[in-house]
Amino acid sequence: MAEDNNELLKQIEQKYRDLGENPTTYLDGLLQSKPINYWDYIQPDALLSLQKTRTDYKDEKIFIMYHQVTELVTGMMIHELEQLVEENLPESQWIEKMTRLNRYTRMLIDSFDVMKYGMDYDDYNTFRKTLAPASGFQSVSYRYIEIYATRSQNLINAKGRERMKEIENPTVEDYYEHIYWKDVGYNRMAGKQSLTLRLFCEKYEKDLISMAKAVKGKTLEEQFNKMSNPSQELTDLMKEFDRLYNVDWPIVHLETAQHYLDMKGENKAATGGSEWKKYLHPKYQQRKFFPSLWDQSVLDDLEGL
Ligand code: HEM
Repeated sequence: MAEDNNELLKQIEQKYRDLGENPTTYLDGLLQSKPINYWDYIQPDALLSLQKTRTDYKDEKIFIMYHQVTELVTGMMIHELEQLVEENLPESQWIEKMTRLNRYTRMLIDSFDVMKYGMDYDDYNTFRKTLAPASGFQSVSYRYIEIYATRSQNLINAKGRERMKEIENPTVEDYYEHIYWKDVGYNRMAGKQSLTLRLFCEKYEKDLISMAKAVKGKTLEEQFNKMSNPSQELTDLMKEFDRLYNVDWPIVHLETAQHYLDMKGENKAATGGSEWKKYLHPKYQQRKFFPSLWDQSVLDDLEGL
């Protein structure tokens, strides 16, 4: 044991010498420093101080916290996606990361019942009025995930493709002009955007376009299509991700919107002001990350929703 420690000490000394530093300073520092605690490392106090409610309705805190949980989960997804896009990983690591991406997405789907049930209908519909024009739509993480997953042209719905058919060699900017999510509040004839959309675009659109340009050729879709002989396991995981993210999550989300905004056929206006029933429906958007693997029957089965 003592010999092991001597060897370790030598390696530590070498590490700091290689950095041009005096190892004794660092060893002294180690001797003096306090042990790290869970609360220092994980920062629960900081996390739990981030809920700034705008009303006294009890469920508003849960509403904020669940959105924050979602941001942490999508943050984990983005962390995995960045590695898949930027590092030249072997198939075994693609399998691990796609398995994780599916697990994170299932966490989002399975936990959405926290939103769908339990909040008082009238309380929710009262406190949400203090939130306009904010909308979950303004969560940029969802847009990052899409950019890493697929080419910009796959983020154009049928109406967008119709509008773009005259454009010969569309640029990323062209795709962003016609991207599906602008349907949330863009009257193209009048050139008018809803406040929710305009504020989102002012904050993020330039960065989203730069990011889409930077990942061109490296998205999950493009890298997968370049693989000479991807395994069935990886192919199935990619298909599963597409379905979970582009059909199953949108459905639990849409059902939640129906639960709070359309109880008894009331069809209340959303905080973001979209034609939400249409906008949120996966059949309308037909968003697909990996069109060559897509199983259309998943959407065909959605009759009646
Ligand atoms: C009671 C709960 C919720 C309701 C009633 C609801 C309702 C809506 C509505 C109506 C829209 C359409 C845009 C608008 O006009 O505002 C929307 C968009 C969106 N919401 Fe929610 N939402 C809820 C919870 C959440 C949560 C917890 C998240 C997670 C961050 C979220 C993320 C999103 C996203 C990403 C969009 C854009 C979807 C897309 O572009 O495909 N929502 N939501």
